[in-house]
Amino acid sequence: MQANEIRKLFLAYFCENNHSIVPGASLIPLNDPSLLFVNAGMVQFKDYFLGAPAPYHCAVSAQPCLRVGGKHNDLKNVGHTTRHHTLFEMLGNFSFGDYFKEKAIKFAWTFITAKLNISIDKLWVTVHHDDQESYAIWRDIIGIDESRIIKCGDEDNFWSMGDTGPCGPCTEIFYDHGPSIAGGLPGTTDADGDRYVEIWNLVFMQFDRQVDGTKQLLPQPCVDTGMGLERIAAVMQGVASNFDTDGFKSLMQPIQEKLGHVTLTKIALQVMADHLRSSAFIMASGIYPGNEGRAYVLRRIIRRALRYAYQCGQKTPVMYRFVSDLVDNLGEAYPILQSEQLNIEAALKKEEEKFYQTLEQGMNLLESALKEEDKISGDLAFKLYDIYGFPIDIAEDIANERNISIDMDGYMANMDRQRQRSKAASKFSAQQALPLEKISETVFIGAVTLESSSRVLALIEDGKRVDTLSSSGLVVLDATPFYPEGGGQVGDIGVMFNASTKIDVLDTQKQGGIVVHHVQIASGQITLDDSVECQVDSKRLAIKRHHSATHLLHAALRKVLGPSVEQKGSLVDDMRLRFDFACTSPLSIQDQETVEKLVNEHIYAALPVTAEEMSMEEAIDQG
Ligand code: SER
Repeated sequence: MQANEIRKLFLAYFCENNHSIVPGASLIPLNDPSLLFVNAGMVQFKDYFLGAPAPYHCAVSAQPCLRVGGKHNDLKNVGHTTRHHTLFEMLGNFSFGDYFKEKAIKFAWTFITAKLNISIDKLWVTVHHDDQESYAIWRDIIGIDESRIIKCGDEDNFWSMGDTGPCGPCTEIFYDHGPSIAGGLPGTTDADGDRYVEIWNLVFMQFDRQVDGTKQLLPQPCVDTGMGLERIAAVMQGVASNFDTDGFKSLMQPIQEKLGHVTLTKIALQVMADHLRSSAFIMASGIYPGNEGRAYVLRRIIRRALRYAYQCGQKTPVMYRFVSDLVDNLGEAYPILQSEQLNIEAALKKEEEKFYQTLEQGMNLLESALKEEDKISGDLAFKLYDIYGFPIDIAEDIANERNISIDMDGYMANMDRQRQRSKAASKFSAQQALPLEKISETVFIGAVTLESSSRVLALIEDGKRVDTLSSSGLVVLDATPFYPEGGGQVGDIGVMFNASTKIDVLDTQKQGGIVVHHVQIASGQITLDDSVECQVDSKRLAIKRHHSATHLLHAALRKVLGPSVEQKGSLVDDMRLRFDFACTSPLSIQDQETVEKLVNEHIYAALPVTAEEMSMEEAIDQG
């Protein structure tokens, strides 16, 4: 049975049993700062476990998951074992306060033994040592011999999504690949081997772990199960390694064929196939290689694969050529791969070209250093990272391969020193900051009015606080209708005046929460504590329209080009707007026209525009 068939059968089985089929979510968790990437099928349902009303009582999904950071990180193992991946598909069924242990165990057992027809003699189960109920269900209701029910502790049989959030004890089903494969039963010292493989994890979600580590009871007990599609495919295809299943073969064969001129090791092939899958899925969710956060995780994955290819003799970009093979295999199940294929290929190619420019030099440096001494020093690892763009995983892989040590502490110390240096550099600009001590944050009233009567809180001339200003300088008020430059929108201009003074406001900026008006005094002078009337130039009305149009343009671009269109910068003034975004190829005339049409349609709709104040979290929650 091919992986694609197993996925369909799984969804259909639970659908017949009253579960709603919910498509797998994007790899980027929505509004969840506790996670870098979706790492389990339950992530998109997290709020339902925590008590938010769910639109269904039971759900089933196939969820691409990434385990390359945080609590669940398999990166180092990938390529070296038969069953670890950066990206895998998790088939899962979920109950939100509906069924609990007995039904969950029965569903799983029926699917495995009656739908997949897996022989009972091949199966073992584990339960949490405190979970008598699950033990009794397996023994008395399912009828498993007690010798095949293994009790384990928290490390094996208590599952948590991350350091905080839903968690609970679990029971797991294992498959025995037979005595020809090394490895021991779960709970034994050689459990890490590949013989007994966990195929399905049934988590009984009962707690919400808090930041301080305490566990609060969930409003209702829930079920979260996960079966790795690649592992169950291996079982169904009678192979002991996930890399020998149809999904991986459909990638590894073309890689081998097209790279006939290099001798790819098995590990290199496995790493390339695995990393191609994860990179493509990450890029399909709108993240491209970069130096921070998720973008850097992606870069680490791609570069790790390239180093393996290079090690086998591949000297030019190549991975991007296999994206189409991936799309052939998984495009039907995950149409986003199809629609994003061109972007993925272009971005991958670009990243490959970039890294190949320094890969060879970095490797030469490393080889000559290793002739001198038999370890990778912290300085060397850092230099490879800093100058040649080698993520630390590469140095670690090399150290493992050659059985030499790597000085991670030294590497980290170098990283820290670099951070300190850049901090010091930014402190330097902070020293240039305006002397605004003891001035409270300005109340911005410019979203609702262009006029105000305000009080002068601070005056600055030539970088120093003064009591009176008579030519030009900076003015800080208690409240202001002047918009300080930000979010691409230019700072407001306008006038301030009172009976004896007339002031032109030439620009408005901010430092932290304090709005600073750059002024030229036209007549009179201005003194601390004075009251002034403020009037923002009516150009702001045009600026405002352009700012709204920027958001309309962004939305239209995302609609036409896909969710990967992320704002990189923008400029909004009274005459025009500019919107910056990264794109792997030029916009076609046709796309430009569609975008223009969409924006105009929204403008003609003349929707009401209102301003509301809320916290960042609330704003994000409201979309
Ligand atoms: N959340 C559990 C796991 O990832 C079961 O789905 O293993």
